[in-house]
Amino acid sequence: MSFLTLTNIAKSYGPRSILHNIELSLAEGEFVSIVGASASGKTTLVKIASGLMSPSEGAVTVGGQPVTGFIPEAGMVFQNYSLLPWLSALENVRLAVEPAFPQWTPKQHTAQAMKYLDLVGLGRAALKTPAQLSGGMRQRVSIARAFAAEPRILFLDEPFGALDALTRATLQQELAQLCRAAGRPVTALMITNSVEEAILLSDRIHALGRGPGATLSPGFSVDLDRPRSAGLLMRSKDAVSLRHRLAEFLSTGAVTAPECVKEVA
Ligand SMILES: Nc1ncnc2c1ncn2[C@@H]1O[C@H](COP(=O)(O)OP(=O)(O)OP(=O)(O)O)[C@@H](O)[C@H]1O
Ligand SMILES: [Mg+2]
Repeated sequence: MSFLTLTNIAKSYGPRSILHNIELSLAEGEFVSIVGASASGKTTLVKIASGLMSPSEGAVTVGGQPVTGFIPEAGMVFQNYSLLPWLSALENVRLAVEPAFPQWTPKQHTAQAMKYLDLVGLGRAALKTPAQLSGGMRQRVSIARAFAAEPRILFLDEPFGALDALTRATLQQELAQLCRAAGRPVTALMITNSVEEAILLSDRIHALGRGPGATLSPGFSVDLDRPRSAGLLMRSKDAVSLRHRLAEFLSTGAVTAPECVKEVA
């Protein structure tokens, strides 16, 4: 059953059509990625899906209810860290914990924030401000902040896009581990410009075509066991086939016949 549903979404900025006829539905606990070229409308799409922006046409629902503003039980990791620069890492995470658990004491809020900073390896940097942290560390704080509120749904907009390849690979594994360890279904919609990253983390992948009026490809389900590693995906026939088909869609807009990889509606 669908948990998050986007129906016939279109978005224009002024006369310029960005997204057209977007249909997407995520089951509870499903991790879905959208890959697309720069400026194809990915951030616009995730803003609409999370309720941060209204579509020009169409509707978004969560659990069958229409979305009219930012989804309260959602967590968000933005493209560019978006931490408050005058607060420490701990205070930045705590800020998301407080409204999520209003019945808790201040001590419990702090303990929850510290737990998630520890989980992303930043326990000892908790009192540093964003300016005192590296890019990778800042993005870890953003991820800790999103998970510490224990959201039912996570929106990730190119969470690792600004990082070097090694840090990116480490954080991809940390994100997969956090999802596995959450102890509850975490529904996630991730935007990425990396086909490899999408295959590593997702249950299903859609490609967003080029604009104007970009549309989504059919879903490509990723039937690979977890945990997955980058090395394993290089050797897996299914992963290689999927990579080719996604790359083909991104360059030509055409979907080729599946060989080893199942395509879903
Ligand atoms: N608020 C806005 N007003 C007008 N045009 C906008 C606005 N936001 C985005 N755009 C334009 O819409 C297009 C899609 O932008 P969007 O940020 O959704 O793309 P993206 O796929 O996330 O790009 P990137 O990969 O660079 O992050 C771009 O051409 C951008 O200039
Ligand atoms: Mg973007």
